[in-house]
Order: sequence, then C-alpha cells, then structure tokens
Amino acid sequence: MSAEAQKQAAGEAAAALVERGMVVGLGTGSTAAWFVKALAARDLGVTCVATSTSTAELAVSLGITVAELGETKTIDLTVDGADEIGPGLSLIKGGGAALLREKLVWEASRRCVVIADAVKQVKVLGRFPLPIEVVAFGHKLTALKICDALGECDIGVAPRLRMRDGQPVRTDGGNLIYDAACGRIEAPAALAAALKSVTGVVDHGLFLDLADHALIGGPDGVSTLEP
Ligand code: A5P
Repeated sequence: MSAEAQKQAAGEAAAALVERGMVVGLGTGSTAAWFVKALAARDLGVTCVATSTSTAELAVSLGITVAELGETKTIDLTVDGADEIGPGLSLIKGGGAALLREKLVWEASRRCVVIADAVKQVKVLGRFPLPIEVVAFGHKLTALKICDALGECDIGVAPRLRMRDGQPVRTDGGNLIYDAACGRIEAPAALAAALKSVTGVVDHGLFLDLADHALIGGPDGVSTLEP
C-alpha cells in the first residue's frame, strides 16, 4: 500500500465516525483532504469548521457547509493529519503552516482524531522540524529568543525561517513560520511551555494531550491508537 493509499484509508475510516447533524472540524494537509472528500461523499448534511483557507475552499467546492470558528455552539469532532505522532499521541503539526488555526479548532472540539500514514509514527518527537509561528514584526529578534528557549531544553539548534519561492511563507493569519530541526525532543511539555513564554511566538506545532485517538493507515489496513 503506498503512502497515499494509507492516507486515503485513514481519511475514509475517519469519515465513518461522523454522524448526521454533527459539527465537524476539518484539518489541513493531504491526509485531511482525503477525509474531506470521503465526508462529502457521505452527504450527511454536516456543518464544518475549517483549519485553513485551502481546506475551506476544498470543502465548499464539494458542497460542504463551512462555518467560522465560534459560529457553531460546539465542534463535535475534528479530524486532522500530523507530521509526527509520538508517545501518548503527542504530535508535531504545522508542516502545512496551518498550526495556529488547527490548534484553535482542536481546542474547541469535544473529540479530536488524528489520521496519518504509518511513517508518521515515531518513538521520540523531533525528526520532523518543529514549526513555530511568530508575528512578522521583529521576527529576527524573536528567533534569537526562540534559540534561547530551545537551549533551555538542551536543544542546540537555530530555527530557520520558512521560505517558498524566495519569499518568507505567510500563514493564513499573516504570520511567519520558523522551523526548528530539534532532532530529539525529550521533554515536549517543557519545550512547549518555553516556546509559549516568548513574546512574538504566536504558537508552536507541539500538540500535547489533544488527540483522543489516531487512525493510522498501514500496509495491512487502518489501526487505532489510543493515547
Ligand atoms: C498542516 O499545517 C499540518 O499540521 C498537517 O496536518 C500535516 O502537515 C500533515 O500533512 P499531510 O497529511 O499532508 O502529511
């Protein structure tokens, strides 16, 4: 089974969790896109809250009703991809630069399910560079403070400004992304706290204690992981 087929299988398994009348959070990325397509095919008349402009556009193009975050009473279930899935369903997210909106939607949801292909599972987080969203004003100074915060957690790397086509990548919220190639994140909660304490950091891609379960597409089908 190819990685893409594993993502598709996980997305379709997650779509089977959705019930008529639910409010559903839609993640961002290629795996979440499979979920959105499978959800649209079920035609359950759900209302959705999207974690990015690109996902909102995909959903609307497939006939799904999209509401703004805060317009619905609650979000019953959010389904989203991840860049790494570590112990206890600790996650690195933000490879698609949508981490802030993703975290806002996840935190507003009663239940969160992460979907991924098998290669995303790791024993220790950190092989995937950790995305950190910062405000553009003074970002070079913020990057130095991020360096200090990483150092407090014994991670000796300098974060790199994410670029595309020679320009800094802008998030949907107009912010910038720095990626920190940590290698190993031995203490994710301590790192999360250190990064959040930096003025100028909007948020980071560590999603801790947020996922209720994971659906992992693998060579032999989809398996469920609990925290
Ligand atoms: C988007 O910002 C990310 O958090 C994605 O959920 C993550 O990058 C997974 O993307 P894929 O499903 O494309 O691997």
